[in-house]
Amino acid sequence: MKNVLILSASPRKEGNSDILCDAFMKGASESGNNVEKISLYDRNINFCRACYSCFKTGKCVLQDDMAEILDKMQRSDVIVVATPTYFLTMNGMLKTVIDRFLPKWQDLGGHDIFLIITGHDEKRGLELVGQELTTVFKNLGNEIKGIIWGEGVWQKGEVIGTRAMKEAYDSGLNV
Ligand SMILES: Cc1cc2nc3c(=O)[nH]c(=O)nc-3n(C[C@H](O)[C@H](O)[C@H](O)COP(=O)(O)O)c2cc1C
Repeated sequence: MKNVLILSASPRKEGNSDILCDAFMKGASESGNNVEKISLYDRNINFCRACYSCFKTGKCVLQDDMAEILDKMQRSDVIVVATPTYFLTMNGMLKTVIDRFLPKWQDLGGHDIFLIITGHDEKRGLELVGQELTTVFKNLGNEIKGIIWGEGVWQKGEVIGTRAMKEAYDSGLNV
């Protein structure tokens, strides 16, 4: 049994990336893993202030939900990171969370990572997001196990019935 943490960055509940997260979650739960999904917009997460206090204390000065998320990341075997594409890159919610990795950046390696990326464009237009997130998580010492591309989807729910749904479910089943 593995601990699987899903970080869902879209503001849209039941939007395309959130639906793919749920398909992944269904597969991973059915194969007996312990799965938790965090909808990042539901949490209180502020911007990094670049005060570097964390370099001295190991802790962030901001008293919000990020410490709990970092703790959960460290205790997970598998981390799923899901974002819609906004102006060719990850959305601001996810970038804000990544900047807040700073206090623990040396202790966030050793995980299997799956990326879920959605956008109205075809895969070619979403690839920058995959490259950026791959670089960030590899540099932290993780392995990218798969990228699920929810391409060509705009309105909420359009991803239902696409190949990405099966890929998300199968990836979860086989974590
Ligand atoms: C601010 C904003 C910028 C966007 N920029 C892009 C883009 O550059 N490329 C793209 O393919 N889709 C873009 N989209 C469309 C979303 O990525 C698309 O609707 C996606 O399905 C949203 O995922 P979600 O349902 O998980 O929120 C943009 C949407 C918003 C709101």
